[in-house]
Amino acid sequence: MSVRRVAILGSTGSIGVNTLDVIRAHPDRFKVVALTAAKQVDVLADQCAEFHPAIAVVADAAGAARLTKLLLDRKINTEVLYGPQALVSAVTQSDCDTVMAAIVGAAGLVPALAAAKAGKRVLLANKEALVMSGDLFMQAMKVGGGELLPIDSEHNAIFQCLPSRFSKDLNPSLGVEELWLTASGGPFRNTPLEQLASITPEQACAHPNWVMGRKISVDSATMMNKGLEVIEAFWLFGLPLEKIKVLIHPQSLVHSMVRYRDGSVLAQLGQPDMRTPIAYGLAWPERIDAGVAPLSLTQLASLSFAEPELERFPCLSLAFAAAYAGGTAPTVLNAANEIAVAAFLEEGLPYLQIPVVVEKVLNSIASVNAKSLEIILDVDARARQSAQEVVRDALCKH
Ligand SMILES: NC(=O)c1ccc[n+]([C@@H]2O[C@H](COP(=O)([O-])OP(=O)(O)OC[C@H]3O[C@@H](n4cnc5c(N)ncnc54)[C@H](OP(=O)(O)O)[C@@H]3O)[C@@H](O)[C@H]2O)c1
Repeated sequence: MSVRRVAILGSTGSIGVNTLDVIRAHPDRFKVVALTAAKQVDVLADQCAEFHPAIAVVADAAGAARLTKLLLDRKINTEVLYGPQALVSAVTQSDCDTVMAAIVGAAGLVPALAAAKAGKRVLLANKEALVMSGDLFMQAMKVGGGELLPIDSEHNAIFQCLPSRFSKDLNPSLGVEELWLTASGGPFRNTPLEQLASITPEQACAHPNWVMGRKISVDSATMMNKGLEVIEAFWLFGLPLEKIKVLIHPQSLVHSMVRYRDGSVLAQLGQPDMRTPIAYGLAWPERIDAGVAPLSLTQLASLSFAEPELERFPCLSLAFAAAYAGGTAPTVLNAANEIAVAAFLEEGLPYLQIPVVVEKVLNSIASVNAKSLEIILDVDARARQSAQEVVRDALCKH
């Protein structure tokens, strides 16, 4: 068995920490060669002390100076780099064969694309990369010749339920009719609509089933996360948008399903624990112990499924609208959402203003063909600026 050499983009986040947890249990299979973070320098220093990567990356020079000192004090021989270009170096210069792409948001796009172009096995948690640049990203994977394994639990479930030789071109003979993405419905699935106006960041981040980073927790509450996942599924699996459905499933045990022409529906079940899809991606096509408790079907009270209420979750409708518009519309959607969610978390933007900001920005920036990274980054920057202005107006009125 050859040892996989792993670079983790976003090692201090929720996915990054879970990835290290799986790796820790399998030192014979995995060697960590690069770790990256933005601000959590102390956490990164501890990770370097335990896993001894060749390269560690932080956001800026001050963070790099601090990390260098922490590592020197502990006699850890890791090269410290900083800034966005260093994230690319972590992938291209670290001698890795596997990249966990787990930076949150648009910041993860460029290093994930670099991993795709370099022919690495890409474990994709950073859904925003596919939302912003699905076509470019899938082309980069093809040209690079590496393997793309989805880590988002829903896409990982679908990947497990598809035939191993599945591809868009083969689909007619393989008979895939629909993909059903499940969604818990988040913490406000049953909250009276009139109470949504006063939702706080703490309430929005308290997901009933999953422990995740703050941004994705808010996205789960608004169901923007599911909208981003619909776009992600469209690019990953190549089915038309009409064939990608969303189902509310509050127990979060069926992680997604594939419906076939002959009447079969295949589902993947498991505990809501990201270490399962992470372990699956790391060891694919083998399966390894993920440290996850077994699922006891006899102890389940029930499994229930329902259509999402669009009045409660306007972000889901906005994401479908952007997906159908295509081009750079999903980039605008993603950028406006990132700004609105950050303003909700940090500046007091009311919860119900998140979809309002996203819709205003979507309506103000025309979609163009997303044919190059330059175009995508330009649209992303314009959408962010526009969203900041809309947020400022909303905060003044509030
Ligand atoms: N958490 C889940 O269960 C889950 C499930 C499915 C998919 N995902 C996806 O996985 C990705 C990561 O989610 P998460 O929940 O792990 O997020 P998170 O806990 O917020 O962690 C984000 C990671 O990215 C780093 N980071 C943030 N901004 C950065 C920047 N500008 N440049 C470089 N690094 C930056 C953070 O560094 P610092 O910690 O140093 O700030 C941290 O290591 C997201 O795209 C999310 O949608 C997550």
